[in-house]
Amino acid sequence: MTPKVRKAVFPAAGLGTRFLPATKAMPKEMLPLVDKPLIQYAIEEAIASGIHNIVIVTGRGKSSIEDHFDVSFELEHLLESKHKTETLQAVRQISEMIDVAYVRQKEALGLGHAILRAKDLVGPEPFAAVLSDDVIDSQVPCLKQLGDVYEFYGCPVVALMEVPREAISAYGVVAAEPVKHAGHGSNVFRIHDLVEKPKAEEAPSNLAIIGRYILTPEVFSAIEATPPGRGGEIQLTDGLRHLLRSRPIYGVKFEGKRFDAGDKLGFLKATVEFALKREDLGGPFRDYLQKLGF
Ligand code: G1P
Repeated sequence: MTPKVRKAVFPAAGLGTRFLPATKAMPKEMLPLVDKPLIQYAIEEAIASGIHNIVIVTGRGKSSIEDHFDVSFELEHLLESKHKTETLQAVRQISEMIDVAYVRQKEALGLGHAILRAKDLVGPEPFAAVLSDDVIDSQVPCLKQLGDVYEFYGCPVVALMEVPREAISAYGVVAAEPVKHAGHGSNVFRIHDLVEKPKAEEAPSNLAIIGRYILTPEVFSAIEATPPGRGGEIQLTDGLRHLLRSRPIYGVKFEGKRFDAGDKLGFLKATVEFALKREDLGGPFRDYLQKLGF
């Protein structure tokens, strides 16, 4: 039987250079979409997909992430004494919702390197990897969509999205063909090759990898055998390419809308759409936008 995915790794040691100066002293994972940090959305997606064991790969200057998922006695006490029950509930929920472990990535040597830092905490079992700056709004959590395909094949699965040719060189890109079997439509692909951030004219397709992965433990030795690639960094995409020699890898063109919240414009779009969907803010915010004439 295919072992269950119980753990998820959240690389959060990157420097967030696309969002400077906000990220000079603040982790990009803590940027708030409306009122919740990006990493909390990602962790809530894991929980909604049945994954409660969380590993966060942090680095220097990232202690606010640990504080966010810790108990805040002073704050809880204050809210309790002021009878702010709802806010208290929201604050408590954060520390109660997960079992979290941290590991440091001393230098930002790439996504593959970050995942490798979680090797001992993950151990010999399948796990999810989630990039918090890819925010995905969907009916069924994206990780759950990937998990269903993983359970069928017992092989690694990556999230895929079609992107315009002119934008493709910002992504890992796959060569893949759709597979068809009972229960899945044409959104499941068997991957034949993966390339990290190719030039548009050299990209094998317009199918980009988005930051959701279900990985099997052999990925660790594959990354260990992977030399630095794009930008001199150890890339997860290259590690997966290595793994492909010994194991099939699948891709899922997921249902849902993805925002690149690590980018300023993408972050603004996500903020507007998430705010409009909120029960408490959507109405007045829509009125405000209409007044602005949009
Ligand atoms: C990373 C991965 C890339 C993937 C992208 C998705 O790149 O290396 O393969 O397509 O995330 O967001 P980054 O955006 O961190 O440079």
